[in-house]
Amino acid sequence: MTTPTDLFDFNDRHVFVAGGSSGINLGIAEAFAARGARVAIASRSQERIDAAVAGLRRHGGEAAGWSADVRSPEAIGAALAAAHARFGAIDVLVSGAAGNFVAPALGMSPNGFKTVVDIDLNGTFNVLRLAHEFLRKPGASVINITAAQSFNPSPYQAHVCAAKAGVDMLTRTLAMEWGADGIRINSILPGPIEATEGVRRLAPNDEARRRMLARIPLGRFGALEDVANMALVLSSPLATYVTGAIVPVDGGGVLSGSRDFSASYVARP
Ligand code: NAP
Ligand code: COA
Repeated sequence: MTTPTDLFDFNDRHVFVAGGSSGINLGIAEAFAARGARVAIASRSQERIDAAVAGLRRHGGEAAGWSADVRSPEAIGAALAAAHARFGAIDVLVSGAAGNFVAPALGMSPNGFKTVVDIDLNGTFNVLRLAHEFLRKPGASVINITAAQSFNPSPYQAHVCAAKAGVDMLTRTLAMEWGADGIRINSILPGPIEATEGVRRLAPNDEARRRMLARIPLGRFGALEDVANMALVLSSPLATYVTGAIVPVDGGGVLSGSRDFSASYVARP
């Protein structure tokens, strides 16, 4: 029988986090590192990767990072292959690389829209598609990081709304296709998480933060640990029958519907 202390023991498990060099994704990588995992991260800036890997190693385990843009199948495929060669089959795969900026659709060039869709949606497809051969079968837990924009139309977020809705459809579709391999795929939907780049971009002033907070039933911003804890649960023996789920970790914020925090800092046409 599994005892409570066994449940979150990830000793020697291989955890690969795409977009793992900062913010929410790094918080997830750290939570697994603190529980014994070998952690691989991939993102663009080598400098940020080096800093993140040094921090991950301070938890006592092995960690490594590769510079790769998720928009490049060749680059992310090479990073996944290198991580597999070093740490073995991937037990937990997190796809969290994303880009965002606040702009009305009419202030967004076709390339601006495409850039976010390429990172968030096409990047997630690339990560999962190219990781498949390296995932532990059966047993791998795949986690896509989505956002409330997936459910709720949000002005000035056309690119993110479209991209994250697509990410959640990938979660559900690939959960069906890869269930037979014993691979589970879920999305975590974080609410606004304190001190992250996402919140800095969406709520750059006090008025926008106030609007954001007012829509969260539990009345607080999230912490990195809130999201990381759910990643641990979804990858633990507690969740072996959970796949294709979109799991909000947001204090109930997604229940509040469509949102526009930008009235205080975006000029209306
Ligand atoms: P963040 O700190 O900016 O993290 C983004 C990560 O992705 C960084 O490691 C970044 O490193 C990497 N990245 C960006 N573009 C990439 C690319 N093209 N290829 C590879 N890596 C790339 O952001 P965050 O606020 O923590 O957000 C993390 C995730 O949570 C995102 O999926 C976001 O949509 C989601 N989310 C955040 C919030 C929030 O409150 N912050 C709420 C809901 C959902 P490089 O720039 O060096 O590549
Ligand atoms: N408003 C309108 N358009 C913008 C914009 C803004 N604030 N910021 C970028 N764009 C447009 C650019 O003008 C460009 O379009 P163009 O070629 O037609 O001029 C397009 O988006 C791509 O910009 P570029 O800077 O070349 O993209 P990049 O690939 O270097 O960076 C971003 C991608 C723009 C998403 C960048 O903000 C980024 O790297 N973000 C990662 C971190 C992040 O967003 N974290 C929060 C996650 S929730």
